[in-house]
Amino acid sequence: MKGYQYKFIIQPDDPRDWLFNLTHEGETVHQFTWPEGPFEKNECSDTIYRAGEKVPYHEHKKGIETFLIAKGSVDVTIRGKHTVAHEGDIIFLAPYTAHGFIYLEEGTIWREFFQEINMSGGIMNKHTVMDNYGMDFYWEPEFRARYLGKNEQVVRIPPAHPEEVSREELKEIRTPEFGFSTFRFGDGAIVLRQKVGRWETNGVREVWQAILRKGVKVAWNAPYGESEIYHLRKGRLHMKIMDEEYTVEAGSFIHIPPYVKREMEALEDGTELLDAGCSGCMLDMLEDYVTLQATEPEKLATPEARSKFMQQYGVYITDVSY
Ligand SMILES: [Fe+2]
Repeated sequence: MKGYQYKFIIQPDDPRDWLFNLTHEGETVHQFTWPEGPFEKNECSDTIYRAGEKVPYHEHKKGIETFLIAKGSVDVTIRGKHTVAHEGDIIFLAPYTAHGFIYLEEGTIWREFFQEINMSGGIMNKHTVMDNYGMDFYWEPEFRARYLGKNEQVVRIPPAHPEEVSREELKEIRTPEFGFSTFRFGDGAIVLRQKVGRWETNGVREVWQAILRKGVKVAWNAPYGESEIYHLRKGRLHMKIMDEEYTVEAGSFIHIPPYVKREMEALEDGTELLDAGCSGCMLDMLEDYVTLQATEPEKLATPEARSKFMQQYGVYITDVSY
């Protein structure tokens, strides 16, 4: 394991950007960020699976798992229901949601965003430390069937006859087109879809997908003591963070440190950005913004007025142009 390095732009396939690399029973984990703050936010990693590998049916008493299938497809059983999820789908798992997976393709990339679960410690404890220094009975099935580990994982009996459903019917699967709410600005220059609601994360964060037309520019900052984590799914971005400039390619994570100003510009049409740890009350802000735009547009007439309005919701966007 290497020492802590803070990188603004993380390329998942570049070994220099891994905090550690762990191979266990055929699966490979690349850790990109550590959990942060009281809610262990913004931890992310990739697990790369071989075809046919399984995660046994289980649930958690605490902690929230959000997975993005970056490559491949996955046989999914959630709450006794069964379907196949595809590349680009997000799978959101609240506590007490039983889930089991079979990875259908060689090299499936399972991109993981955790909250209140600390999988870095979990993986290290459970697999590396316990294998080498832990209790002798750690791998005995009888023990594992009732083991409550650091993440209070509960092993469940997989359903014998899970109900077959479409992936749209299973509410934990958020397809690329899904949004609890969708907002469009500038004749479709900016499309925002809410993937995960604040009501699902103990009020800690929201997850949003932004689809941006070439030339869209956004400047913002945040007075929070936690970083922000974005994932560029498609397209390219120009970013400026703490006066450093980057061209960000599709597939990268953007890990913005607390308190600093940042700017971005979409360099391609259809640039797709996932804000995985949105601290601001974005849904409330957007709903009220649209209402005000229709009823009292003079209150949003200038960039300063718009910025002040958004600040009330913990959204610190200082400039948007398209
Ligand atoms: Fe899990």
